[in-house]
Amino acid sequence: MSDGQQSPSSAPPSEPSSVVPTRQLTLSVDGQQHQVEDAGGTLLDVLRDRLGVNSVKDGCSPQGQCGCCTVLVNGQARVACVTPARRANGKEITTVDGLAEDRQERWANAFCATGGSQCGFCTPGIIVRLDALASKGNDPDDLGPVEQALLAHLCRCTGWQTITEAWLVFHSGEAPGNAATTGGRDLLAAARRAEIEGGAAQTVSPEVALGRGGFAADTAPANSLIAVPTDDGSWVVGETLAEARHAAGKVQGRRTTIDPQHPIELPEAGPDGPWVATLRTTWVDPAYLETDASWCEPGGEPASPLANGGAFGGKTESKIGELARNLADEHGRPVLALGSREFTIQQGPKRPPVSGGVRADGSGELRVASTPGIAEAIAAVAPEITVVEVEVPGPPTSADIRAAGWAEAVVLQAGARGTTAPVVAPSGAVAEAKVDANGIHVSVRCGQPLDDVILRSYCVGAAHMAWSWLTSEGLAIDTEGVIHDLTVRSFGILRAVDTPTIHVTIEPDDGEPVNGSDAVFAAVAAAGWLAAGQPQDWPVGSIG
Ligand code: FES
Ligand code: FES
Repeated sequence: MSDGQQSPSSAPPSEPSSVVPTRQLTLSVDGQQHQVEDAGGTLLDVLRDRLGVNSVKDGCSPQGQCGCCTVLVNGQARVACVTPARRANGKEITTVDGLAEDRQERWANAFCATGGSQCGFCTPGIIVRLDALASKGNDPDDLGPVEQALLAHLCRCTGWQTITEAWLVFHSGEAPGNAATTGGRDLLAAARRAEIEGGAAQTVSPEVALGRGGFAADTAPANSLIAVPTDDGSWVVGETLAEARHAAGKVQGRRTTIDPQHPIELPEAGPDGPWVATLRTTWVDPAYLETDASWCEPGGEPASPLANGGAFGGKTESKIGELARNLADEHGRPVLALGSREFTIQQGPKRPPVSGGVRADGSGELRVASTPGIAEAIAAVAPEITVVEVEVPGPPTSADIRAAGWAEAVVLQAGARGTTAPVVAPSGAVAEAKVDANGIHVSVRCGQPLDDVILRSYCVGAAHMAWSWLTSEGLAIDTEGVIHDLTVRSFGILRAVDTPTIHVTIEPDDGEPVNGSDAVFAAVAAAGWLAAGQPQDWPVGSIG
C-alpha cells in the first residue's frame, strides 16, 4: 500500500475492546441518559465519537490546552479531552446544546452581534464556560473573572475583545432575538466581508457560535472509516477513532524549554551606508484551532478543511483533502482524515523567518527562508528592499500566511523612519496604527465595509495577532530543522489579559471592498515595534 497507509484489517489490534477493560458507564448528557461501554478513553471520545455530540470540538486532544472541548461536569467547566470517561460515570454532562434554549439563543445572538465568533471553532467551549460563570451571579460589568475564564481557552480569530463584548451584550438584554442581533445587518454582506478578510468562504450567523459552522470532522458520513496520522507521517485507518488511534500509537505532544532561535544571519550593510534598523524573526505557526480534517466518498470531491474560514492562509496548501480522497478510493468507503495537533504543527506551513536591515532612505536587504511567492509579495510593498531567499532547515513555509514577508518589510521601513505612517497593502487597503497608554488605535480604509461588525472584528483579530507575533510568538526549531514545540500553547498566542485595548476606526469608502485586516496587521506590528524601542530579535517580550 502506498504512503505507508494501512488497511483497517492491518491496524493492530482490530478490536479495541480486546485490549482494554470494559464496563458500563452511565452518563447524563444534556439531560439524556446514556449507557456506554468504558473503552478506557476520554469524555471527549465518548461525546463526539460514541454519542455524536459534535458541538464539542477537538482542537488539541490529548493536550488539554485549547479549551475547545470544554463541557460542564456537574456544573463545573472541564476540558473533556483530558477527563477520563469513567470519571464522568453517574455525572451530569452539559454541552452548549444542553444549555437552556433561551440562554443558547442569547449567547449565540450576543456573539453574532459583536463579531465574537468568526470561524466559530473555539466558541461553543467558551460559551459553556462563560455560562457557568454567568450562573454565579457576579457583577457582569466586572470583566476580571471573564478574562480569567478565558485563560483556559485559545481563539486565533477574534483577539478576545469581541468575546468580552459578547459577555456584556449577553447581560445587557440587548440581544434577545434576531432583530436585535442583526440590527438591520445584512448577514450575507457580512459573510462577503468575512470571506474577503479571511480568504475563505465563511458563514456569519448566530448558529456559528453554537459550533454549527459545518466543519469536516462534524459532517462526515456515519459509515466513514477514520484515518489518523502516525508519528512518522504515515496514516492508519480504523473503523472507529479509538481503533485508528490505537493503531497509530499516538503520543502526547510536548513543549520544549528551548527558546526560539533566529536561524538567519543578518546581511552586511555594504558600501551604500549602514543599517539604521535591523530585524530577525523565527518560524511562527499560523495556529488555527481547527486542525486539518477532510472527508471524502469514493469517487467524490473531498470536504474542505476550511468549512468556515479561520486559518488566515495556513491551510491554503493543505493536502488533507487529497489524502481523504485517495483513502476513500482505495477502501471503497467514505474516509474521514483527521490531522492531530502534532501533525498540524509538524506538517503545516509556517510564517517564514527573516533577517534584514534598512538604511535611512528605506533601501535594504531582507533575507527570508526560501518560500515560493515571498519575493513578489515583498516587492509589491517595498521595492527598495532587496530580497534574498536562503535555504534553512525547518518546516515548510508559505507566502499565503497573513502578510508574510511584506509586513516584515513594512516594519523595517517604519524603523528606518522612526515613526509610523499609513501602510498600503497589496490589496490597496490603507491602515494606520498608533500605540499609547490607552491601547492600540487603528484606522482602516478598505472599500465599502459591507458590515461594520465583521470588519471591526477582523481588524481587532489582526491587531491582536500582530501584537502576539511581536511580543510572544515563535517556535523552537533546532539547527537540524526539527520542531521542539508540539503543543498548541507553545505557539505563544497572547492571552486576553495581556492584550491591550484595541480601538478601530473604519474610514468611509465607496470603493470596491478589499482585504483591510492584513494592512492592520502590518501597521500594528510596525507601531508596536516602534513603541517597544525597535529590539532586533522577535518575539520581543511584553511592552510597556
Ligand atoms: S481539545 Fe481539549 S483542550 Fe483542546
Ligand atoms: S473564532 Fe475563535 S478560533 Fe476562530
